[in-house]
Amino acid sequence: MPTPHTTNQTAADGSAVIRPNRYRTHTCGELRDGDVGQTVRLAGWVRSVREHGNALFVDLRDRWGITQIVFDPEHDAARRRTAAELRREWVIQVEGVVRPRGPERENPKLETGQIEVQADSLNVLSQAKTPPIEIRDGIETGEEVRLTYRFLDLRRPEMQRALETRARAIAGIHAALVAEGFVEVETPMLGKSTPEGARDFLVPSRLDPGTFFALPQSPQMYKQLLMIAGLDRYYQIARCVRDEDLRADRQFEFTQLDVEMSFATRDDILGVTERAIAAAFQAGIDYELPLPLPRYTHRELMDTYGSDRPDLRFDIKLGDLTEMAQDCGFNVFRRVAADGGVVKGLAAPGWAAKSRGEIDKLTNECKDLGAKGLAWMKLTGGALTSNIVKMFTEAERAQIVRVLGADDGALLLFQSGPAALTNKVLAFLRERVGTENGLKKPGVFQAYFNVDFPAFVYSAEAGRWVSEHHPFTGIIEADLPLLDSGDPGDLARVRSTSYDLVINGYECASGSIRIHRADVQEKVFQVLQHSPADIRRRFGFFIDALAYGTPPHAGIAAGIDRLLMLMLGRQSIRDVIAFPKSQRGADLMSGAPDTVDPKQLQELNVRIVETEEDHET
Ligand code: AMO
Repeated sequence: MPTPHTTNQTAADGSAVIRPNRYRTHTCGELRDGDVGQTVRLAGWVRSVREHGNALFVDLRDRWGITQIVFDPEHDAARRRTAAELRREWVIQVEGVVRPRGPERENPKLETGQIEVQADSLNVLSQAKTPPIEIRDGIETGEEVRLTYRFLDLRRPEMQRALETRARAIAGIHAALVAEGFVEVETPMLGKSTPEGARDFLVPSRLDPGTFFALPQSPQMYKQLLMIAGLDRYYQIARCVRDEDLRADRQFEFTQLDVEMSFATRDDILGVTERAIAAAFQAGIDYELPLPLPRYTHRELMDTYGSDRPDLRFDIKLGDLTEMAQDCGFNVFRRVAADGGVVKGLAAPGWAAKSRGEIDKLTNECKDLGAKGLAWMKLTGGALTSNIVKMFTEAERAQIVRVLGADDGALLLFQSGPAALTNKVLAFLRERVGTENGLKKPGVFQAYFNVDFPAFVYSAEAGRWVSEHHPFTGIIEADLPLLDSGDPGDLARVRSTSYDLVINGYECASGSIRIHRADVQEKVFQVLQHSPADIRRRFGFFIDALAYGTPPHAGIAAGIDRLLMLMLGRQSIRDVIAFPKSQRGADLMSGAPDTVDPKQLQELNVRIVETEEDHET
């Protein structure tokens, strides 16, 4: 893991920021050999109290570190007695003299490990109940308790380091963008619904009964309006709110680095983005992201890895066997190839050792994703074995091994069927190999841009075409005529000007060159089957604005929480957000969401309607 690093905005020991006052002259992370003999005042939390011989040792902790305090009976018996009453997490202040611990008592694990403070006075500032969470790193306490007592969880050093790293990374972004002429503009929290595809959080208007504001799913329309306004280069560390199912990398509220720039080519916007992200890595964890980041087309990634955001810390590629399958002896493959489907596979290094039971389990997992089954072969001692091997000629077998790049000891896994499903299942298997074979090295970051996305995807659920990104995404000029062709199949071929930034398999940023012509924007809304009245009502103001002199512009938004989760090697964005919601979307500490006073509802003209379910319970 990269070691957390501090820039010179705040020295790790706090010496650059703490000014002596009546509570303290130094922080608990600051004193060193050179301070021996000084009289100091420290304040903090009692981490532990230990008796050794006649003396009492207290580890005093604050955000900056830990300093050992000694209460020596020979020095002052009364003070020693008071100190003996101290309990964990009490807040105290001590005054005393810094003295060396001596070589045999030094603690190399502590930054302040060469010294201790011999207490001359003790002042209890506040007492504490026994905390339900241990205030130390690496605890096993369940997340529910941690979130209920988040203020204690955040007292733990690793959580404090996470918040510091987050703040440093954001400061790095500010500096990088300001240096390139970007201006930070705050956009409203109360606005009109923005079409990012998730459900809105709505806020009822008191002054205009029956109407609602929507909390911003993103500042998308506002930032484009700022380009029309001539701001030229905008950015914001923006809070976004979406009512969508929560996952380890998704919260209702999250933070974006939101960027928009005028008269910008794709190279310009990707350049700014990668420099801002590199600045975040540098300031956050002292990691140098090599620039420029590679760019791959959506098509290339799907063909090669079966996914539009493969984790490229490992380079297992899918092999395409469709052509070979056209006249092979294995019926299943031959039929799929003849019907326009694809036959693809991958080699899982070392997996030839898997038992039949393990392969069956894997097969079931593939079936859960919609696969009909999972064909496989083992490559051991230079020969392929499995129940389907005899369906292939010697030459075909050699070709399979070559196309999949299989080494001895590999398990070869195959899928055949429609391209989308085949890719999905193989991408899942590829991920699994990466995880099981330990190929996802912590502390290594493989970042790249994915470009040339399709503009539209058909949503069976909605029964219409929907934007792959959002409806303001530009269309590649050459594909514009396809919008008018009248053949819905053509829509699948329309490419957009959008791009994603992927790091270690996570979509970390997403953006596009925008539509800047009102006629094209209106046409896209039509393709998405918004009725003219709906377009007018929801986006009329925006389409009107486009007609008042809109510069060509492009933008992007990066998920700050995901970036920090990756930088710090955490499993969930909840670990890099001070007060996140639980997996079920609740604030366990405050009890939100909660019912409100009927008077508040009355003022808002909101009535709670009882449903049948309410009656049943
Ligand atoms: P998009 O919806 O792709 O694009 O969001 C951009 C980035 O924000 C992060 N993200 C989230 N992080 C945590 N929890 C969530 N619920 C969540 N949803 C998204 C992801 C994602 O890549 N307006 C466009 C950007 C643009 O076109 O400029 C937008 O919001 O890292």
